[in-house]
Amino acid sequence: MDKLGVSSDFFVIKALEDGVQVIGLTRGNDTRFHHSEKLDQGEIMIAQFTEHTSAVKVRGKALIQTSHGEIENK
Ligand code: TRP
Repeated sequence: MDKLGVSSDFFVIKALEDGVQVIGLTRGNDTRFHHSEKLDQGEIMIAQFTEHTSAVKVRGKALIQTSHGEIENK
């Protein structure tokens, strides 16, 4: 994390079908959805973990790449 609370790492989500949802969950005591992004097939989202986002939920078929490896949501 840098001093603004943003991780220097990026992760990539590539939608393998229409309507994939990328949901950001809040950091801190209260874990709730704060953002939902819809991706259509072939669309890519590049994101970071930040002061506001500690976890991400991906709904639907997608390819997810992180510094820890790659995973396909089938
Ligand atoms: N405003 C959000 C934030 O700064 C944007 C964001 C960053 C986000 N990473 C995300 C939204 C991952 C959804 C998923 O934390």
